[in-house]
Amino acid sequence: MINKIKGTIDFYNLEAIKYRYLERKVTDVIKDFGFSEIITPIIESTELFVRSTGEESDIAAKEIYSFLDKGNRNVALRPEGTAGVVRSYIENKLYVNNNLTKLYYFGPMFRYERPQAGRYRQFNQFGVEAIGVSSPLLDADVIMSAVNIFKNLGINNIKLVINTIGDFASRSLYSKELQKYFSKDIKSLCSDCNRRLTTSPLRILDCKIDKDNPLILNAPKINDFLTEESNIYFEKVLEVLKTNNVKYEINRNLVRGLDYYTDTVFEFIIESDDQLDGLAICAGGKYSDLVKSLGGPDLPGVGYAFGVERIIAIMSENNLFPNLEPVADVVIIALDDAAKLYSLKLINTLRENNFYAEIDYVNTTMKQQFKLSERLNAKYLIIVGEEELKNKTLTVKSSLDKTQETISEENIIKYLKEKLK
Ligand code: HAM
Repeated sequence: MINKIKGTIDFYNLEAIKYRYLERKVTDVIKDFGFSEIITPIIESTELFVRSTGEESDIAAKEIYSFLDKGNRNVALRPEGTAGVVRSYIENKLYVNNNLTKLYYFGPMFRYERPQAGRYRQFNQFGVEAIGVSSPLLDADVIMSAVNIFKNLGINNIKLVINTIGDFASRSLYSKELQKYFSKDIKSLCSDCNRRLTTSPLRILDCKIDKDNPLILNAPKINDFLTEESNIYFEKVLEVLKTNNVKYEINRNLVRGLDYYTDTVFEFIIESDDQLDGLAICAGGKYSDLVKSLGGPDLPGVGYAFGVERIIAIMSENNLFPNLEPVADVVIIALDDAAKLYSLKLINTLRENNFYAEIDYVNTTMKQQFKLSERLNAKYLIIVGEEELKNKTLTVKSSLDKTQETISEENIIKYLKEKLK
């Protein structure tokens, strides 16, 4: 027996239905915000991710599924969506006809992380990227599209945490200051923090292990190092959110784990009383230099991505999915072999007329066949036996009002259309 790879999930039955339901709901909302779909490859050059997320990011340093293909090319299964979208945006010159390009995507990502509740090695993201324009209004509108999606799904046990990390110049000044500050007592922090002191001191701020350590809580704050322009930009983002009654919390230690961010960064954090508490359900921010650094024009972007499995978990836990169990219009109950043969023709006619119709291919007793109709919550049962075949009639039982009628064969479609449509 071969088992699934650690950290991966099979979606089947109701879970697969929930996945597609979510995809439909989310894409319905995002289309109203003017986003159109982009589908990029799951496999890309490893260099794309190393250059975009940063050599020292957890993604590039520890988590990427990269390998040499048969032609000795270094390729990777995408760990996130932004880099591939930006690569495609540049390669296909999507900037030529629009000053602002709004794209969304839905699909699997791969990270070699330690699997646990809400954390997988293959997981799915829904993400958006708005590329081409720098505006605090756009940043706020992108955040509001996520808020709108959560509202539509009925999710409200989350909080929006927001920060600004300024431009690269201010960040590098701040980085040096943090290095100086943490090196005084770096031994009191975890091994990851010790490594980050030289590679990316900012990441010490969002260490999950030492997050309550006073050394981290009292560290110098980014806002003292920002340019006036960055501060004004951030104020404007907040003002738009306020005007639109979007609640947020400013967290000066929020820095995000990917190198491409500048200015606005944000996360939506789950607030629950189980293992999902504190996990990010959605995260993103602005990236002013990513397009240029990947060889494109000097244009900024802003976006976010949701963890689809985390959303499904929250929605299941809070009973936010409607009843998605399959409901058949008709189950045919055929009482002998001749009736089965006849019923298969009938079922095809029903399906041609867009009814969801099912039949038990094997069993011939009533009791056995009722099981199928119960499992599919069938609205109507059509019973076919010797008598019905002889008279060219059908016995139709309604599960809705418990009535039973005899309908002639040629009238069955008309009858069901009246009853069901
Ligand atoms: P990220 O924070 O790495 O950002 O991931 C976004 C979301 O994906 C997380 O908030 C979480 O819900 C989900 N996620 C991440 N890793 C896992 C995992 N191992 N298992 C389950 N869910 C996970 C990005 O990926 C950026 N590309 C977002 C972005 C788009 N920024 C700008 N545009």
